[in-house]
Amino acid sequence: LNNQLSLSVNGSQHAVTVDNRTSLLDLLREHLRLPGTKKGCDAGACGACTVLVDGRRVNACLTLAVRMEGAEVTTIEGLADEDGALHPLQQAFIDRDAFQCGYCTPGQIMSGVGCIEEGHTGTRAEIREWMSGNICRCGCYVKIVDAVEQTAL
Ligand code: FES
Repeated sequence: LNNQLSLSVNGSQHAVTVDNRTSLLDLLREHLRLPGTKKGCDAGACGACTVLVDGRRVNACLTLAVRMEGAEVTTIEGLADEDGALHPLQQAFIDRDAFQCGYCTPGQIMSGVGCIEEGHTGTRAEIREWMSGNICRCGCYVKIVDAVEQTAL
């Protein structure tokens, strides 16, 4: 079955028709051509697909697109200012070299933004715990925590 829904993505309104089984991740990447959100495991285990839905972190691979009626979704493409100025956490990832291959980085940054906005940045241990759903195969965890900590201060 196809479903029509309208949602906001990075401040732009979209009306789309999707199959019942379409994930938010595939809606973003395949239908809306926003490939910044990455597909790692496609099973809720890696965090590469993290986006914000109404300000809350979700794994887009585990979220059905049909549940997104009226939602406000923010992806990595929507984080910088309209004039191109990076979000402070994006800049902190650059300043701290918080990536190697970069594949997990969009998800790490979106999760980090959520972590900061949720106030889970009191200690490095707290940041590690609340970022623990985001896997980095290159092992950049220390610098990722550095970047989140720097931005939260
Ligand atoms: Fe969604 Fe891995 S791709 S958690």
